[in-house]
Amino acid sequence: MYQSKIIGLGKYVPDNIVTNDDLSKLMDTSNEWIQERTGIQERRHIKKGDGNSTAIMGLKAAKQAIDRAEINKDEIDLIVFATLSPDYYFPGCGVQIQEKLGIKTCPALDVRNQCSGFVYGISVADQFIKTGMYKNVLVIGSENHSGGLDMTNRSRHVSVIFGDGAGAAVLTRSDDESGILSTHLHSQGEYIDELSLRGPSTEKWVPEIIAENPQEDIPYYPKMNGQLVFKNAVVRFSEVINEGLDFNGLKKENIDMFIPHQANLRISQFIQKKLGLEDTQVHNNIQKYGNTTAASIPIALTEAWEKGKIKKGDLVVLAAFGSGFTWGSVIIRW
Ligand code: ACO
Repeated sequence: MYQSKIIGLGKYVPDNIVTNDDLSKLMDTSNEWIQERTGIQERRHIKKGDGNSTAIMGLKAAKQAIDRAEINKDEIDLIVFATLSPDYYFPGCGVQIQEKLGIKTCPALDVRNQCSGFVYGISVADQFIKTGMYKNVLVIGSENHSGGLDMTNRSRHVSVIFGDGAGAAVLTRSDDESGILSTHLHSQGEYIDELSLRGPSTEKWVPEIIAENPQEDIPYYPKMNGQLVFKNAVVRFSEVINEGLDFNGLKKENIDMFIPHQANLRISQFIQKKLGLEDTQVHNNIQKYGNTTAASIPIALTEAWEKGKIKKGDLVVLAAFGSGFTWGSVIIRW
């Protein structure tokens, strides 16, 4: 069995900054409410005509990660693209990236696991590298939320949370002790409707939605039971981090850097307290970018690495929880 490690990281966020005050002009909300409940001060939204999309933002992050990995794009054996907001209904963003990078025929797949998408993607990459089937895998998380949010009072508890952006990592076969020590993944479909966007879909096509003309429960906007998500998140984050630490015979005291999925600053702070970590041992950036779902961990990981917060030999923990419900952790010896 081989071990995989991350050798290149990249990120991209659109230039357009949307503050809480900007949102309060569109719906009945306030900077105070949003900051107090979520920690978010501003987020980035794609602006019509700026050329961005989920695939394009993913491409920009991927190019940076490939450059930093110092490999040639043609050495990539597999592309894994995590998103809940793909450019097309089909095919997925993975093949779009492959085409835009100019890679002729490597396999490309999309992961549909929302906030846990990047953690799932890393786990898929890790398995392929471990078995020796592939050497270099590109994992991308990218989201264009702004195009699909309901900016009215009806969805104000959802729409203030989400932002656009992308992050990427290149993984390769490790030639030393460093690398991914473990990944643990879970899902619980009984909560499918608590955080979802159901249509248009094969269950409900556009004409049916229009014919029903729903006012309250519009299936083409995201729906969220925020308090239930919150309650489950704090439990599952802790469980899956401990599962990863136990698997490796490690303790929470061994953690050097924790990169949580940026769901809500209050969730991250709760987990930080449970793990007994100092502020310097956790990297949060939801204040600037909001919740970017599959992109949030790779953006935060890249930013922490760029700021010099992650050093060789550090124990780095990634963890996510989100729609599905799905959750997972990655334990890395950097
Ligand atoms: N501005 C002002 N007031 C608001 C807003 C808003 N944007 N949204 C809701 N309110 C009001 C409600 O109307 C309600 O008012 P009332 O008491 O007069 O009826 C009050 O605030 C409380 O509303 P709740 O919806 O119960 O708000 P809550 O305290 O649960 O906070 C929040 C909402 C921030 C969404 C919280 O539940 C949360 O963070 N949950 C976790 C969400 C999360 O992490 N999601 C990530 C996963 S996403 C993914 O996987 C794609």
